[in-house]
Amino acid sequence: MNVKLKVWRQASGQQSGGFEEYEAKELNPNMSFLEMLDEVNEELIQAGKEPIAFEHDCREGICGSCSLMIGGEPHGPEYRVASCQTYMRSFKDGDVITIEPFRSKAFPVLKDLVVDRSAFDRIIQAGGFISVSTGSAPDANSIPVPKVSADLSMDAAACIGCGACVASCKNGAAMLFASAKAAHLNLLPQGQAEKDRRVLAIVETMDAQGFGSCSNTYACESACPKGITVDFIAKLNRDYALASVRTKLLGAAA
Ligand code: FES
Repeated sequence: MNVKLKVWRQASGQQSGGFEEYEAKELNPNMSFLEMLDEVNEELIQAGKEPIAFEHDCREGICGSCSLMIGGEPHGPEYRVASCQTYMRSFKDGDVITIEPFRSKAFPVLKDLVVDRSAFDRIIQAGGFISVSTGSAPDANSIPVPKVSADLSMDAAACIGCGACVASCKNGAAMLFASAKAAHLNLLPQGQAEKDRRVLAIVETMDAQGFGSCSNTYACESACPKGITVDFIAKLNRDYALASVRTKLLGAAA
């Protein structure tokens, strides 16, 4: 199959960018979208031109680095997959495919399709951890965890931090990401001691990074390759309200 590509090229964050057109020819429909880009880059390199910069690591939907806006949708047309799990068979012969970086004020473009998502790292640094000593590995079942809580915590922990939620939101909100990172710890017994401090720090850091407020459109849930639901946003809002009240009444959060 053959497709035409309209790719966002931008030499650096300090320079303005624009679309450039490329032809990708004789593609195997079963190759991944990133393998297709590899082939385009091979040709560019052989022609002495600058290859298209894009991010990738695991190519298995695990690391969350392959953040591409494909045809106006984060990660492309397929449901619940990352860009690296999108295959050329999802497109038709002769299609024109637009490829852009994830757009958000909090994700400045570094080069071509690569954006700086370190704002997510700063949210994790603020509260995405447990600092109380949990001792050595306890015997299985010595800390009872209700199955519902364990399952929900694992659902939240599936977030790979790709940023599709931010790119899909008209307000550029990071609520889905932040709520998943708070929930996977807050739902477990080990996360209780620092729950209030964690929630307040995550929300305050998220606001400081320039993310917008929740648009309530559920676009984030629909774009998420891991199926994180907006229920976690509702939980974060409740936990934030409680933590704020408790901190006001009792002083500094734990
Ligand atoms: S490259 Fe790791 S999720 Fe796509």
